[in-house]
Parts: sequence; C-alpha cells; structure tokens
Amino acid sequence: MKILVTGGAGYIGSHTVVELQKQGHQVVIVDNLSNSSADVIDNIVKISGVAPVFEKFDLTDQALTADFFKRHSNIDGIIHFAAFKAVGESVANPLMYYRNNIQSLINILEGMKVNKIPYLVFSSSCTVYGQPDELPVKETSPIKEAFSPYGFTKQVSEAIIRDSVVAYPGIKAIALRYFNPIGAHDSALIGELPLGVPNNLLPFITQTAIGIRQELNVFGSDYNTPDGTAVRDYIHVVDLAQAHVIAVDRMISRKSKAPMEVFNLGTGNGLTVLEVINSFERVSGVKLNYRLVERRPGDVEKVWADTAYANEELGWKAKKAVDEMTLSAWKWELALADRKK
Ligand code: UD1
Repeated sequence: MKILVTGGAGYIGSHTVVELQKQGHQVVIVDNLSNSSADVIDNIVKISGVAPVFEKFDLTDQALTADFFKRHSNIDGIIHFAAFKAVGESVANPLMYYRNNIQSLINILEGMKVNKIPYLVFSSSCTVYGQPDELPVKETSPIKEAFSPYGFTKQVSEAIIRDSVVAYPGIKAIALRYFNPIGAHDSALIGELPLGVPNNLLPFITQTAIGIRQELNVFGSDYNTPDGTAVRDYIHVVDLAQAHVIAVDRMISRKSKAPMEVFNLGTGNGLTVLEVINSFERVSGVKLNYRLVERRPGDVEKVWADTAYANEELGWKAKKAVDEMTLSAWKWELALADRKK
C-alpha cells in the first residue's frame, strides 16, 4: 500500500518509515526538515535498501498541501507525525504551536476528504491525560486540562479528528498516545537528533556522557515515588514504530471497531529518572555527572500506561527492556560523534 508519512524524516517518523518498508509498503515522506535533515532519508535507504519518495514542504501551507494531494490522490493511508513537540517552547510561543500543529492537521484532513483518502494514524501523546487519578492510565481515563499549549494541541487534534470521522464517514482514524519514546535503530543510522540543547531525558543523558554537556540535572527528587524522582513509561522507538504499521494495517483490513480508535503505546512499566540513569551507566560503563535539582515546572509526578487494550486489540506488545533502550541510545550518540570526526 502507498502510505504518506508526514514528518518521516523525524525521530519516530524515520523509524516508522523503515518498519513500513520492511512490511512491503510504499512510502511517501513529506517533511519541511524544520527539526531534521535530508541525511535521514539517505540513512533510511541504507537500512532498507528502498528509497522513499520525499517531498520537502510545509504542511501548514494550504495551497502546497492541496497540490500535493492532487498529485498523490492514490495514497491509501496517512501517518501524521509532523508537529512541534517541545513543551517549554510551546509555553513561550503558543501561537506558533497552534498554527503549526493544528493548521497542518486541518490541511491533511481536507486533503483526505477531497481525495477520498480513507485512513489516518495520528501521533498523540500521554500528555492528554495530565496527572491521571488512577495508574496505570487507561484509554478511557478522563482527558485533563492540558499542562502546556503543546499538550493542548494534542487534545484539540484528537477532537478535530473525532469530529471529522463523524462528519466525513469516508475517513477512519487511529490516535496513538505515546508514553516516552527513547532509543534508536539497531543500525545506529537513525535516532533522535535534538536541535540545540535537548529537552528530553535520554538525549541529555547521552550528550552528557559523551561530553557535549557538563552535567545532567535531575528535575525533582521529592516526588512521591520509590526514589523521589519522577516516573515515566519509557518505550523503545522501534517497538513504537511497529505499532504504527499494525494500526495502518488494521484500518486497511477493516478491523477497526469504531471510526476513530485510541490506543496507549507504552510498556506498562514505570521507571524513575534514577532507574534510567542506572541502566544507562550499567550498559555504557560511563559514570554520569548528574545533580538532583528542583522540579521542572509543568512536569507530572508519575505516569505509566495500561497497555491491555493495545495488546489485545492490536496484537502488539512492546518487547524491548530498558537496558536495550539506553544501550541503543548510547550507540546512536557514539555513531553521531564518529560521523562528525
Ligand atoms: C513530555 C510529555 C510527552 C511529550 C514530551 C515531548 C508528559 C507526561 N509527557 O514528556 O507526552 O511527548 O514531553 O517533549 O507530559 N528529566 C530530567 N532531566 C532532564 C530532562 C528530563 O530529570 O534533563 C526528567 C523530567 O523531569 C521527567 C523525565 O526526565 O521526569 C522525562 O522527561 P522528558 O524526556 O522531557 O519527557 P516528559 O516531560 O515526560
């Protein structure tokens, strides 16, 4: 099948392109390279031996997006990753986030409606739950007030999709709510490429270990958790990528049980920041220079997924444990450093 992957040069997008190609899908990538690079496309080809079609443009541009869909009206399904994702940046510049994340989704849905493209997989986030009242968090848990404009764009996007599948019965959708994706492809040819100072934990750990950063701040050590540091459900990016292929196939083979379905993608295990650091030190043999500091504003204390629904309905389960995640992230950082030499 011909699958459009928006943001296919990005972190999760690139891993998903590889998994789609592995399953024989033909991939078209649209990416404006605002937070990625064209080298990623070359590295995808090195891994899979297959060149995806690549078009560089901004999906917030209505005319360009409409023209793209006119030229590719035979697309069978879309996986929509292209979006901004830095929580702090979204607080500083909410309009940029609303324009980018919402406008692009609207343009894509318009393209689906006009060109009768039936299937959409949407990149959502556990951030829609805020700090849940019950853990592990289920798909049916209430959506809480968003902690940031970034989080709000995910909530609004899900709502826009929900309204669209009702109004335009030709469109079916699956929203995948990711917990914390980390790690990199086994080949160390693709991985997370943060622009400037990383916001997320793993890139900060690996950059500190390799000497790009002086020290790692551990945000908060007084949480109500086993060691006082915050708990997240870290999931290997390749496990996550595979779930996207399953989601697309589910819609294509008409197994969906509703016009829009929602699945949590996590491992079901919560880990503290210190547990992740310990795993990294164990697999890399590098002692990390870290310091316990104040909580980071906007962080929730703990969240991890109830994965039963995704496990049963998608027949999918995250396979990789934390050491494999941190080791692959480390190999990726080392490979990046090698390439810079
Ligand atoms: C948040 C969102 C997630 C979103 C992601 C995008 C929640 C629960 N999660 O992830 O949905 O996709 O942002 O960026 O809202 N940490 C440190 N030191 C650091 C960096 C992080 O201690 O230098 C800690 C954080 O305080 C947190 C954990 O590591 O406890 C994970 O942080 P991070 O990787 O930034 O992800 P989230 O904030 O959980």
